[in-house]
Amino acid sequence: MINYDEMAAKYKKLGAKVPTRDMIKTPEQIEGIREAGRINTLVLDEVAKHIRAGMTTEEINAIVHNKTIALGGIPAPLNFEGFPKSVCTSVNDAVCHGIPSYHDVLKNGDIINVDCTTIYKGYYGDASRMFMIGEVSEEAKKLVRVTKEALDMCVEQIKPYMRLGDIGYIIDKHCRANHFSVVEEIGGHGVGVGFHEDPFVKHIGKKGTGMVLFPGMTFTIEPMVNAGRRHVFIDASNDWTIYTQDGSLSAQWEYTLLMTEEGLEILSK
Ligand code: MF3
Ligand code: CO
Ligand code: CO
Repeated sequence: MINYDEMAAKYKKLGAKVPTRDMIKTPEQIEGIREAGRINTLVLDEVAKHIRAGMTTEEINAIVHNKTIALGGIPAPLNFEGFPKSVCTSVNDAVCHGIPSYHDVLKNGDIINVDCTTIYKGYYGDASRMFMIGEVSEEAKKLVRVTKEALDMCVEQIKPYMRLGDIGYIIDKHCRANHFSVVEEIGGHGVGVGFHEDPFVKHIGKKGTGMVLFPGMTFTIEPMVNAGRRHVFIDASNDWTIYTQDGSLSAQWEYTLLMTEEGLEILSK
């Protein structure tokens, strides 16, 4: 465990924003979050095994709900701030927070993000994946690939005592280079003891700016990337689902991460 007071004083003196003490998880908390992450990943693996054309997003909800319960967990989205289901299913131009429904049938060519958050013994794991249904367009394939590359580049390149802004810089740079745009309104977050903790993790940013990343921090990175323009709107009929304003496709991948002395460790993917 790091000497928080010493490191905080050192970086404050340099004028940097430092994490608050409660953002640094204890070894016990880290073990709990690691276990929650393991369960969270198993739930997504179960979705991966069964997802196919002809399935409704409600069926995905049932898979997530039942697998989570079978593993001794609780699906965090259910009743979270009134969210009615156990998972978010966001298809094509849905950016995030899609609500599973009996009416939404997956068809050949769709891309879908399945975002699972699992509570296990009081700790949280939060991850999402993209699935491509049958034969999808070249543009969709590229969008799904580039979005995951942006996240994986962060995992490779972000080291302790780099800044939050470095994360956004890496993601935005890679997506722009591929002529895609990064959604700015929604971001990653601290996670582990709660669902959404500080800090807010922006997916755009300037190198060397923002909060210093200390070992012991657990947070998500979860870029939402649009094939078209970055602008989004919220579905007025449910007050949850976010869509691209221009109707273009959107992709998202999310990991729960632990900052270690060596770099980022994936706790759930
Ligand atoms: N899992 C989402 C995230 O990555 C949050 C979903 S909130 C819900 O932060 F209520 F829609 F589940
Ligand atoms: Co999240
Ligand atoms: Co999530």
